This record gives sequence, structure tokens and C-alpha cells, in this order.
Amino acid sequence: MCGIVGAIADRDVVPVLIEGLKRLEYRGYDSAGIAVVDGADIRRVRRTGRVAAMEDASAAEGFAATLGIGHTRWATHGGVTESNAHPHVSHGVALVHNGIIENHEQQRERLKALGYEFESQTDTEVIAHLIHHYLQDGADLLAALQRAVKELHGAYALAVVSRKEPERMVVARMGCPLLVGLGEGENFVASDVSAILQATRRVIFLEEGDTAEISRDAVRVFDGDDQPVQREEHLSDVSLSSLELGPYRHFMQKEIHEQPRALGDTMEAIIDAGGFEPTLFGKDADAVLREVEGVQILACGTSFYAGSVARYWIEAISGLPCSVEIASEYRYRTAVANPKHLVVTISQSGETLDTMEALKYAKSLGQDLTLSICNVPESAIPRASRLVFYTRAGAEIGVASTKAFTTQLVGLFALAATLAKVNGRLPEAKEAEYIEALRHLPGDVQHALNLEPQVAMWSEHFTPREHALFLGRGVHYPIALEGALKLKEISYIHAEAYPAGELKHGPLALVDDDMPVVVIAPNDSLLEKVKSNMQEVRARGGQLFVFTDADSNFADSEGVHVIRTERHVGVLSPIVHTIPVQMLAYHVALARGTDVDKPRNLAKSVTVE
Ligand code: F6R
Repeated sequence: MCGIVGAIADRDVVPVLIEGLKRLEYRGYDSAGIAVVDGADIRRVRRTGRVAAMEDASAAEGFAATLGIGHTRWATHGGVTESNAHPHVSHGVALVHNGIIENHEQQRERLKALGYEFESQTDTEVIAHLIHHYLQDGADLLAALQRAVKELHGAYALAVVSRKEPERMVVARMGCPLLVGLGEGENFVASDVSAILQATRRVIFLEEGDTAEISRDAVRVFDGDDQPVQREEHLSDVSLSSLELGPYRHFMQKEIHEQPRALGDTMEAIIDAGGFEPTLFGKDADAVLREVEGVQILACGTSFYAGSVARYWIEAISGLPCSVEIASEYRYRTAVANPKHLVVTISQSGETLDTMEALKYAKSLGQDLTLSICNVPESAIPRASRLVFYTRAGAEIGVASTKAFTTQLVGLFALAATLAKVNGRLPEAKEAEYIEALRHLPGDVQHALNLEPQVAMWSEHFTPREHALFLGRGVHYPIALEGALKLKEISYIHAEAYPAGELKHGPLALVDDDMPVVVIAPNDSLLEKVKSNMQEVRARGGQLFVFTDADSNFADSEGVHVIRTERHVGVLSPIVHTIPVQMLAYHVALARGTDVDKPRNLAKSVTVE
């Protein structure tokens, strides 16, 4: 949520800032802006809408400078207006912010009393004035920032420049990601590495409470007590090509099609480990997993649905009790902690605030056995967890999660099988069967992708509608939920998912010949039950759109449309059946002409409550 980039160099940094903001745009796309130190002045340009609009304005005004900061916003405090767009400026101090300042109202009153005037409704503007206030008090820019952040409650990543100090920028981080990029005679700061890959791969991840001073030739980092610290340098392995569209129209389309590769890369770790070994989850894992008597999964959105699939697997395969809960609910309820339960957080970005806070809450209750399933190395949630499984989906740019979801499922399946193994419940033959199923998975997913022309033809049945129902049973019920979420998220069609057996308890009242009903109906033990539920729909005139597999003997008939995957793949079937529902959402959105990669009101990486 919100993206930050900053640069100091001997060359013009404006193209670096603009390019960086374009790469960060998936984090928020309500407005964008840059501020540069130009001689003894701060120059700023801000525009509502996309970075491209701001880029045109900065070009028209001839922006060029060797020091600057930029921001792309997802609005929280204050509407989508130019005056609420970042950077915010106070008397020659310019600042960009990601996060939320909870005590901004008190600070606003205090600063007003000191004579500061506010021109925005944002929580951010108080920080600019606060820093200026301490500069007035005699502090230099770094000290002013360090004093200011001590008065802030909430979450922030900040980058600050001052017209009086054209040789450096200062930054701070608490609860939101921020990294420093190291170049030759130039240095950078960014919310994520994609923003600066054009310039460098060498990065330092700032830790909670850190501040830093960044000049052309040096980076000095300070901990939360303002003491100098060394933070390790990393070499990013994110590839530039993973950030490009290539032959695809949208990142979502590209990421759907990357799934055979992403799944193959993710399960490589399992094959390399020689099976479902605790080492898959880190050095400490053997000892931790042996202690585990149950599993508590915490996640949001699509990651929550991955956890919902995992619950079926974990209970069936390992025999351990498993519960799954939406992180934003868990964090605010009085939960009964069980220190023998493994707390599993699932997060593509590794920085979702609700998931992070749920993890902290679980830890505060004495739940010390923690594992994170995450796609972004070194992000906050895995760093706060004892064990970690990194999915290898590669950068996911489309706001609607696709390849991250299916690779999370691989990680969760590995967890279920590993828990079974450490508990003596995974016979060798079963383990071999699961590994074989995983080996076939990229091919099975490719076959499902090959169904795209058929799925695309279905989109015409959905495009004119305002509502749709999704049904599934058992381990495929969360796939129905995921299908409904994808459809509503990018096509803006209201979609709901139900366990098919629940239909007659209420939602059947919605069914008429205007209601398309998507059914996930593979040839598993619940197929006959699902068929009965489908009859209930047909009898009320509902149109059925059935995703099944070749083994299930479904045929097209009046009001019943059928698409078959090549074969029933057994335990990994939910992964294969995700592909058609992703493609359906994509093609319906395409036909409705929505902004597929940047759906309205949303952003990737939800670092606010
Ligand atoms: C939906 C989607 C979101 C995320 C959710 C959690 O397509 O992407 O529902 O799954 O915001 O995000 P992460 O996994 O980054 O914690």
C-alpha cells in the first residue's frame, strides 16, 4: 500500500524516480508525485490518477535534479485529491510516507497551536511539520527525523529531503517495508526492490525502528536507539524480465500462464530435500514440528483461502487438528492459546498488516511455534516467524493473486505431509505417491491452461450479469470461494461461493434463469453429492457452468455447460481446478473492459488496517 522511491546521484534522478514509481504502482494507484531538491529549492509535482499523468506534468515543467523522492498512493486518510497526494512539504522539507500515523490528530492540534497550517487531510502532513519544527529547534535533518519518529504511533516508511541539505536524504522505517539500494557513487531507497532494479541489485533491508542517512557515497544506518548499526547487504535475485509484460496483455494473464514454472520451482525444494523433510521449513524445523499438536492458520483474502484448503489436507494427511481464521478477526478477539499449536501465517507479500498483527498477537499469547508461508524473501512476516517456507512464484504484479495462491498450496501440502511424516503417519509408499503427484503437477496445470479458449467462450454468459454463484464441496469449496473472489475483484460482478450442500439452506432462493452458477465438480468422493446439488439449481432454471475432469462422465445438456480437465489428479486437484476459475475471471474482466491489473479501490500489499 503506497510505494516509496528515492535517489541521490551525480546524474538526473527524475527518470529513476518515475521508472521506480511505475514499478511500484501496483502498491497503490490513486495519485503519484515527486519532489526534487533543485538548487536551494524544493520542486514538487503531484497528480491524481496514474504515474503516467504525473510523468507528463514533470516533463512539461522540465524537472531534473540529482536528489529526489517519489510516491504512489493508496488513499487512507483524506480523499483522492492533489493536495492529499505525496510528497508533503513543510517550509522546504519534503516527505513521502507509507503507513498510518495513529496519533495524527493529537499531533495536528499540537502543531496548529505552534502555528503550522495544514493543506491536506492526510495523517502524513503532521510528520513534515514535526520534522520542520525540530529543524527550527536546531536539529539537523537526521536528528529532526529521529526526534519526530519517536512521537509517532503507528506504521511508517519515510523518505525525507530538505532544500537546506542537498547532499543527503534521510529515511525511517517502522511496520512498513523499506530498503536501501547501493550503487556506485549513487544510492537509493525504495519500498521494494523492483523500483530500483534498473540501477542496482545490492540492497540493505532496514529493520523495525531503523533510521538511515543516505548520501551519494555513504549509507549510515541507526537502530531505534539512534545508535549506528551495520545491516547486512544482500544481492537481489529478482529478475527484470519478471517485472516486464512480455507478450501478454496483462500481468494477471502472464502470472496465470507462469504457474507451471512457478509450481515447478516451488516444489524443486521438496524434490531436492528428497521428500517431505522438516528442513524444508528451516534449520530449527525438526525440533519445532515434533512439538506440534495442532495447527492454527492465519491469513487474509486469497491467502486465507489457501489456508482453508490446507485445513482439509492437514487434518486428513497428518491427523492433527487445524483451524483457519481471517487474521483481521483473530487479532481482535480473545483467543484461547495453545502453545503446542503451530501458528502458520500465509502471506504472498509478507507485509500484510492484519496478518503481521495476528502473528504478534498469537506470540503475545505464548504461541512460540510459528511458521510463515511467503513469496517475498526478507519481508516482515517471515522475519518474525521461527520457520519459513518461501514459495518461488516470482514477483507477482497483478493485484489479483494467482500464481502466489497455487504455490502457497504447494507449500501447505508439503507442510501437511511433513507433519504426517514426523508423526509417523506417512508410509514410504504414500510419500512416493505424493512426490509423484507433485512431479506431474506442472504438466497437469499446463493442460488446464490449454482450456483457455473454452473458458474464454463462457465469458459471454457472465459479462452482462451482475451476480454469480460458485459452488464446491470439501477441499474444492475454498476453490469456489477463490473463484468468486477473483470474479468480483476484477470484473466487479457480485459473486458468492457456498459449499454446494448449503445451497438449500438459503441461497437457493437467489437462483433463477438469470443466475449463472459455477460448480467445481471433480471426480472425487463428493461428486454424486455435488450432482444432486446441481439438480437443485437446474430445477429452478439456474444455468450451470461446471468445471470437472474427464473421469466424471458429465455431458453438456440444456442449461448445463461443462469444461473438463484432462484427468482427476487426486489430492492435488484443488490446485488444478484453480486454473479455470482464474481464467474465467480474467476473460470476464477483459470483456467488461475493467482495469484487470489494477482493479478499482484495491492495491497489492495491504499494509494498513
Ligand atoms: C486477492 C488478493 C488478496 C490478498 C490479501 C492478502 O486476489 O490478492 O486477497 O490475498 O490481501 O495478501 P498477502 O497474501 O500478501 O498477505
